[in-house]
Amino acid sequence: MNTETVVKQNSRGIERIVEGVATSDGAGVKLTRVLSGRLQQRLDPFLMLDAFSSDDPDDYIAGFPDHPHRGFETVTYMLAGRMRHRDSAGHEGLLENGGVQWMTAGRGVIHSEIPEQEHGAMEGFQLWVNLPAPRKMDKPWYKDFPGGAIPEYVTPEGVKVRVIAGSSNGVQGAVTREVTEPLYLDIHLPAGAEFSTALPAAHNAFIYVYRGTATVDGVQVASRRMGILSNSPEADSVTFSAAGDTRLLLIAGKPLNEPIVQYGPFVMNTQQEIHQALSDYNNGHFA
Ligand code: CO
Repeated sequence: MNTETVVKQNSRGIERIVEGVATSDGAGVKLTRVLSGRLQQRLDPFLMLDAFSSDDPDDYIAGFPDHPHRGFETVTYMLAGRMRHRDSAGHEGLLENGGVQWMTAGRGVIHSEIPEQEHGAMEGFQLWVNLPAPRKMDKPWYKDFPGGAIPEYVTPEGVKVRVIAGSSNGVQGAVTREVTEPLYLDIHLPAGAEFSTALPAAHNAFIYVYRGTATVDGVQVASRRMGILSNSPEADSVTFSAAGDTRLLLIAGKPLNEPIVQYGPFVMNTQQEIHQALSDYNNGHFA
């Protein structure tokens, strides 16, 4: 047992299990909205998590034609499928199996996300991470990380961890953010395995299980369920185990504790800023 394992003794528990809501977005893409509405306060700085998974092209083929964003970041993680991104800041990229696209909308982009496949499975997630008030009007930023560019490690128990953002057990992820300090891990546990990683006590955190069932502090979280992790000043980590093969996302971040005002694809701090966003968009200032 190494020192790091000994230190991580006080795991968080599960405060609440959330079932997503089936909906559609874009031009009719079927998805499950796991995080929205009132959970935005509880899981600050995260504003949204959508999960999509289908092998029926009718569920995804129309994609997400041109639409704007302002005031936050979007993180798209593709487990399977091919999606083409184009935006008004001149960025273009093809997101494929295991790849991540991180886009800081900042003061505003118009983008499209369109599948480049006519059959087969499309599965993945889109997470929205809020920007702190002084950064909401930053210049847009965008980066594609192909599957091979996401740092990974495997524990002695055979748990495979992909580190999309933040760091875990000494492995630095693909993206680092100063203010919200997001941790975004994709964790694959073989049957019978246990896994721990450090989590700052003040950070809000949740898991989303997408295969199998995870157990955290005696509570089971089934597939397609989010488990909100309790915040406790004494907790320094989270530990979970899996009876069967299990895959889940672990997402955590430092809360901004700022007002959240959302109008569709705009997330600002005040109603006035939302009016400004609509006016800027309608006057062509996003293009
Ligand atoms: Co979008």
